[in-house]
Amino acid sequence: MMLSFKFGCIDNVLFFFPIVVVVCFILALRVLSSAETAKIGNRLGIVGMLAATFPSVLHAITNFVATHSISENLLPIVAVFTILLGGGIGFYVAKNIAMTSLPQLLAAFHSLVGLASVFIASAIFVAPQLFGIPETGATSFPVLNAIEISLGSAIGAITFTGSIVAFLKLQGVITASAFQYPGQRKSNMLIVLATIVMIIAFVVTQSPMLFISIIFASFIIGYLLIIPVGGADMPVVVSMLNSYSGWAAAGIGFTLENNALIVVGALVGTSGAILSSIMCKGMNRSLLTVISGIQQKNSTMIVSNKNDGHIKLCSPEDAGFIIKNAESIIIVPGYGMAVSQAQHVIRELSNILKLRGIVVRYAIHPVAGRMPGHMNVLLAEANIPYEDVLEIDEINHDFGSTDVAIVVGANDITNPAAKTDPTSPIYGMPILDVSKAKTVLFIKRSLGFGYAGIGNSLFYQNNTMMVLGDAKKIIEEILKTTKEE
Ligand code: TAP
Repeated sequence: MMLSFKFGCIDNVLFFFPIVVVVCFILALRVLSSAETAKIGNRLGIVGMLAATFPSVLHAITNFVATHSISENLLPIVAVFTILLGGGIGFYVAKNIAMTSLPQLLAAFHSLVGLASVFIASAIFVAPQLFGIPETGATSFPVLNAIEISLGSAIGAITFTGSIVAFLKLQGVITASAFQYPGQRKSNMLIVLATIVMIIAFVVTQSPMLFISIIFASFIIGYLLIIPVGGADMPVVVSMLNSYSGWAAAGIGFTLENNALIVVGALVGTSGAILSSIMCKGMNRSLLTVISGIQQKNSTMIVSNKNDGHIKLCSPEDAGFIIKNAESIIIVPGYGMAVSQAQHVIRELSNILKLRGIVVRYAIHPVAGRMPGHMNVLLAEANIPYEDVLEIDEINHDFGSTDVAIVVGANDITNPAAKTDPTSPIYGMPILDVSKAKTVLFIKRSLGFGYAGIGNSLFYQNNTMMVLGDAKKIIEEILKTTKEE
């Protein structure tokens, strides 16, 4: 009597947990959008996840205490054990992962979400009564549930193999370059169409063979969709797979009548899709060309850096002299800063310049580097104050009134061809208007291309000086000069 009263109280408390989960995840997404509040967002996400798993753990413990029987509670005990094991592995991996390996870590985690959806859908199919789904005569469960589990398992299976391929490409285990073959699009379309037909047939017949075939065909679709995508487009693909994994979870949430899973799945699904679209816009690519693996004329090709102008070379000492005598400076970090890990020495340089009364700010392009927020993460890691770091829209109009723009390992995001050359692969992409600064110092190792594989006419502009070398080494030398009186 006493015990059932206690369980009743617990159930009343647990009733609110899905609301806590949903509120935590919505708030987390909201505050993750700003670097200043991102840490709070992470913590809210952790609380949301704990709230999502807590009811299962509590139920398992209370049932065990009530019955004292391991055999009667084997499944809940295994569930609690796997939650703890998975949480422990996740904690360890997240703590130890190198910042540059984040994209592949995300891909690996998404593959697990996809596989989980396939497993849950399969379990529901095999034993619907365990999930509270009523039997309905000839076919074993309602049409709506048949649609949900077939779609959930198909999207989950696509996410699983797609994420594994993305992981292998990003990790360098298989070639990162685009893999294309004749008739690729037609054969992909055929298998997608066949899967849709099988899903419709499954909803009508609920045949186990069809269910298994849908899963296998979807595994193949995941592989075929991601294998043609070139390595540098992978961040967009990872974000798309993130979106798919959310929709797969939401689909299963409907079957399980689990409101928290539906809302959280939809949040992941929409936020992933929005992020992919933002990235594509920033790269001036269409989502369809990225996920279909179609390369724009350029992505892996080298286009001639034809330019008749002369470049002005500048030593780090001369660059230091120019910088010391400036009143305002905008630093434009790019992929090369990440490669050379120059962010810490850049912070040191900024501190010294600020002590000299020079205004130093940072301009961030939405697709600088190779993953969303790449530059923000590196600058935050080097403790560069958030208020000095400005997005393209906030700072672009200030280049005209700035003495020196220091471009550190960036290329495409400054290339005027994006505005002036309709034939350029980056035409239409917004760029940072560094050319409007009185002096532009370009720090990079050579006149080599960036990701888009095209030359940059800015190197030949009158007010540009090229400081050639590894970004970290060059900034260290500039730093020495600025320390001298
Ligand atoms: P890029 O245009 O790729 O240029 C980077 C430059 O860094 C290169 O020209 C390279 O020139 C230089 N560099 C490399 N290592 C260096 C080192 N150790 N020290 C100094 N310089 C070094 O980079 P960006 O301007 O950041 O533009 C990003 C590009 O990536 C865009 O085209 C964007 O569309 C694409 N992209 C971005 C994303 C996301 S989400 N951020 C995802 C996929 C693709 P040298 O070899 O001459 O040194």
